[in-house]
Amino acid sequence: MMSSQIRVVLFALSALWLLPEIAFAKHAAITRHYKFDIKMKNVTRLCQSKSIMTVNGQFPGPRIIAREGDRLVIKVVNHVQYNVTLHWHGIRQLRSGWADGPAYITQCPIQTGQSYVYNFTVTGQRGTLFWHAHISWLRVTLYGPIVILPKRHVSYPFLQPFKEVPIIFGEWWKADTETLISQALQTGAAPNISDAYTINGLPGPSYNCSAKDTFKLNVKPGKTYLLRLINAALNDELFFSVANHTLTVVEADAVYVKPFKTQIVLISPGQTTNVLLRAKSKAPGATFAMSARPYSSGPAAFDNTTTTGILEYEKSPSSASNSNKNKKLPLLQAVLPKFNDSSFAMKFNKKIRSLANAKFPANVPTKVDRRFFFTVGLGTLPCPKNQTCQGPNNTKLAASVNNVSFVQPNTAILQAHFFNKAKGVFTTDFPANPLIKFNYTGTPPSNIMVNNGTKVVALPFNTRVELVMQDTSIIGAESHPLHLHGFNFFVVGRGLGNFNPKKDPAKFNLVDPAERNTVGVPSGGWVAIRFLADNPGVWFMHCHLEVHTSWGLKMVWVVNDGKGRKQKLPPPPSDLPKC
Ligand code: C2O
Repeated sequence: MMSSQIRVVLFALSALWLLPEIAFAKHAAITRHYKFDIKMKNVTRLCQSKSIMTVNGQFPGPRIIAREGDRLVIKVVNHVQYNVTLHWHGIRQLRSGWADGPAYITQCPIQTGQSYVYNFTVTGQRGTLFWHAHISWLRVTLYGPIVILPKRHVSYPFLQPFKEVPIIFGEWWKADTETLISQALQTGAAPNISDAYTINGLPGPSYNCSAKDTFKLNVKPGKTYLLRLINAALNDELFFSVANHTLTVVEADAVYVKPFKTQIVLISPGQTTNVLLRAKSKAPGATFAMSARPYSSGPAAFDNTTTTGILEYEKSPSSASNSNKNKKLPLLQAVLPKFNDSSFAMKFNKKIRSLANAKFPANVPTKVDRRFFFTVGLGTLPCPKNQTCQGPNNTKLAASVNNVSFVQPNTAILQAHFFNKAKGVFTTDFPANPLIKFNYTGTPPSNIMVNNGTKVVALPFNTRVELVMQDTSIIGAESHPLHLHGFNFFVVGRGLGNFNPKKDPAKFNLVDPAERNTVGVPSGGWVAIRFLADNPGVWFMHCHLEVHTSWGLKMVWVVNDGKGRKQKLPPPPSDLPKC
């Protein structure tokens, strides 16, 4: 028999469980479970149906919501005939590199009929990120938002919005993109450009048969909306604007920034940007275009179309009840820069600054242990014998970092690293500097062939790294959004032309530089970043233009374990897929 005293104590304890927030755990983190079933689904866009890969039959995929500090446990089951992996883009994955997701880098893909549980904690981040497939071009339809809210009872460092709305940009092909990219890699030609861009999966009225496939955002006058912008397009940086409205940028890549106002946002594949939009105080029934179209600085053909969503104001009670309610006010168009407006790009990117205050400091490494200088750009590979190729002068198009075009191994690098079986999988001789120096942004050298290799840079734990990435004009200068897994970095400098190691470092911003996971290397210019290698594991770095990744514009950092107990990568989970 339970004594009444014990009963009282138990009752009190259970009451505490029921009210955990009030009772003790003001900032208690929780574990959130998701089940992602990868399955095919028929979808019609631009008057054409096709079978696409989805998560749980949803396109775009389901939204993941967590608070800073929460653990996410996502069971992914593969029901399609393709091998799949998912990546939680921008999540730092502190000592959870097995959950990062790039195929053949941190894991072998999840094969048909198999499953894998991604298990990680969201630490020190809040804002918007996204998840996407990380194998071949499957991310064309396999993507969705990640919303990280501040800890409970912690508010934003800006006006609490009335509503929050993810706006995820995508890119749509009528053709099957797996066939498209595999044929392009065979012939050496550039793959066909997309047929449309989309906002939350919908192309909008500027495309054939798409008026009904338009994203609409209904707003109330005077209210403030937080738009969580995500560029999940494959190959295109995008300008975004809302007709007749000013946006306030407050966060980028899940890091708060010094708020600034702008009419137009530039967002590269892999980047996320939170903006506040304040609805006008009076505009009953008015509609405004929310449009995105590409920023393209390179030599290649690109999809020069515009996707449009509609910002629609509540009708006033009188106009809603009047007889001609079908009469519509004209849709106000958004004004966007010219497709090649690199000076806008440079100016916009310079405006993004860390808050750098006591609560949200910018922990920029002020000292540097190792310096790297990487060229990024295009090149060619010789045409295999007995074949004709469709790249320049019967070659195959390629891309590289320091002239090394990365070759995907057929087993995961993280496994090879963890079990000391690098031999035959990768080598640690990735060049810290270009082997051949040339005028990177001037006339290209006559030999533009790249080398192939699966090379990595190995770093001791806690190395302070400075990396300058220099665009080349080989085949054509072009902006490259470079994405680093496992870290946020600080963008300490950028410029046009060739980086000058004598003069440029003096101008670096070590006070309030942008902290992010994806940065555009300016077309015909350079960018300097710094990061602290405090996360043991194997970390992919690549251009987030998928076509460039396919061509080899990717490399890997291996961060070795530190001495401390909390400086080591734990062993892999038992369900880690096998190759
Ligand atoms: Cu968003 Cu390696 O990717």
